[in-house]
Amino acid sequence: MFNLNALVRPNVLKMKPYSSARDEFKGAASIFIDANENNIGSLAGNNYNRYPDPHQKKLKQKIAAIKGVRPSQIFLGNGSDEAIDLLFRMLCQPGRDVMLHLPPTYGMYEVSANLNDVQLDAVQLTADFQVPVEEVLNQVKPNTKLIFICSPNNPTANLINPECIEALLRGFNGVVVVDEAYIDFCDSPSWTTRLDEFPNLLVLQTFSKAWGMAGLRLGLAFASEELIQLLDKIKPPYNINEATQELALQALEKSEDLRYMIEEIVQERELLAHALPRLSSVLHVYPSDANFLLVKVTDANGMYNYLVENGIVVRNRSSLPGCEGCLRISVGTLEENQKLLQVMASFRL
Ligand SMILES: Cc1ncc(COP(=O)(O)O)c(C=O)c1O
Repeated sequence: MFNLNALVRPNVLKMKPYSSARDEFKGAASIFIDANENNIGSLAGNNYNRYPDPHQKKLKQKIAAIKGVRPSQIFLGNGSDEAIDLLFRMLCQPGRDVMLHLPPTYGMYEVSANLNDVQLDAVQLTADFQVPVEEVLNQVKPNTKLIFICSPNNPTANLINPECIEALLRGFNGVVVVDEAYIDFCDSPSWTTRLDEFPNLLVLQTFSKAWGMAGLRLGLAFASEELIQLLDKIKPPYNINEATQELALQALEKSEDLRYMIEEIVQERELLAHALPRLSSVLHVYPSDANFLLVKVTDANGMYNYLVENGIVVRNRSSLPGCEGCLRISVGTLEENQKLLQVMASFRL
């Protein structure tokens, strides 16, 4: 049986969260001299002399309506990287507890584990980049608190088989994090639709990819109310700044534009996926459910350097076990993709 309180660090259960000035006052007032703000004004304009809503109520309401969840099931972070870090701090005792991840995958799980002095267990994805469920469950130790699954996975670009994720949710008594940073680029339903079935499920999403807001830093975690309350309890009070909250509210009104942008990216992805294998330097293009392609080339380091010489930066993933010889290429604009193809075609083997 999943028992959240038994997983959470005792100091987190015991501690009192920071109480902000606006939390301690409820009601109507016209003069706010309670938070040591600059009441004369702001050099940045707007209302930026005031602290932002620490609970991001308007934003959560709007996101809840769009995503079909309750506001109490949403945590907002300064990028999903903040949520990843807070999960370690909430659940894992430094020097004692364990996290499991499935490389090749997103690098921040490992960085956050190391930062928080949490033991990192790794089970390699299979040759087709899927989860070997039995092996993962066999690796679970009494102190394993978290399993991170990235779906669609970065850098392999594929969706993880939902049956495998479900088997982990059922077979593991810790928290299963499903990182869906790239979910908008595929047709598969989000795991947010199954939150009420699995108290140990936490879904990460972000405004950095499909929404095009990487510079604003806004990440989302969806989970049970109990889990979300704990994340809210330990987060820095004003982790989502006012400009980000305002701009995200405006962006959320533009769901049509979002759809067009996703369609365009997916279309460009398919064009690239079709054109790249025709190049003699390309050995394989892996299927993609994301906004990037994992591409196996004859000489990854040589090609990487050649592209840089021509003003094009891709991600060299060839040193990652499982990704030997591979470059990760984000889908660009039509012109950028054409230029990429042209430069890659001129690479001398
Ligand atoms: C799988 C995955 N999760 C999370 C992130 C980070 O997202 P954010 O910008 O919200 O911190 C990335 C960024 O590349 C990613 O690839």
